[in-house]
Amino acid sequence: MDEKFIDSVVFDLDGVITDTAHYHFLAWREMAREISIDIDEVFNERLKGVSRMASLELILQQGNRQKDFTLIEKEAMAEKKNLHYCQFLKGLTAKDILPGIMELIAAIKNEGIPIGLASVSRNASTVLKALQLENAFDYVVDASKVKKSKPDPEIFLTACNRLAANPNRSIGIEDASAGIDSIKASEMFAVGVGNTLYKSDYQVDATKQLNWEVIKTEYMNWRNQQTVKVMH
Ligand code: BG6
Ligand code: MG
Repeated sequence: MDEKFIDSVVFDLDGVITDTAHYHFLAWREMAREISIDIDEVFNERLKGVSRMASLELILQQGNRQKDFTLIEKEAMAEKKNLHYCQFLKGLTAKDILPGIMELIAAIKNEGIPIGLASVSRNASTVLKALQLENAFDYVVDASKVKKSKPDPEIFLTACNRLAANPNRSIGIEDASAGIDSIKASEMFAVGVGNTLYKSDYQVDATKQLNWEVIKTEYMNWRNQQTVKVMH
């Protein structure tokens, strides 16, 4: 087996390609205030990468109000949050692509390695269009294509499958703890963007530090360690 080979690279969207993770937070905070629940950025780390309804449940738990609303009321609250969020999306343009991302995508494509996108957001196609990235990925998996949200591996495994890639020879890039768990459950190499993603195989603080040569070196070390483990 050629240890150098990388089958695919799969990106998360919110918080990796663009800073929509912050817009999700602002929109949830606004909605939560309306039912007298306060959330801060520390709590928000738990919402990153988590689906809309699962996020709402976490917020209601935080305010100890998980039993106070019917399903219809909860759906209305989630919709309200989405309306707040969509207001922020109106101002989104290609200028909002995070530093280093276009360079990274270009370097990967230059080596002929397929790239995918794995986002549990139902707004993923709107965001990609606003960023003028709708044709940048070889395959996009969004909320409409999976049943389970991150941390379940379904979304990254689906992306690898559709890119004809072996997950164990693929790289996932995430800013959320739930996303890193999803990548690791898929047995991929996990690149974390953020300083609290301790389960990442390789971690950077911000996207501008994502350097393809460094990522490849870290990936190679990881694969070599795995080969050693198999031999023992
Ligand atoms: C993820 C975000 O990408 O999408 C979460 O990290 C968000 O914060 C989730 O809740 C669902 O997004 P949407 O757009 O379908 O509400
Ligand atoms: Mg994210």
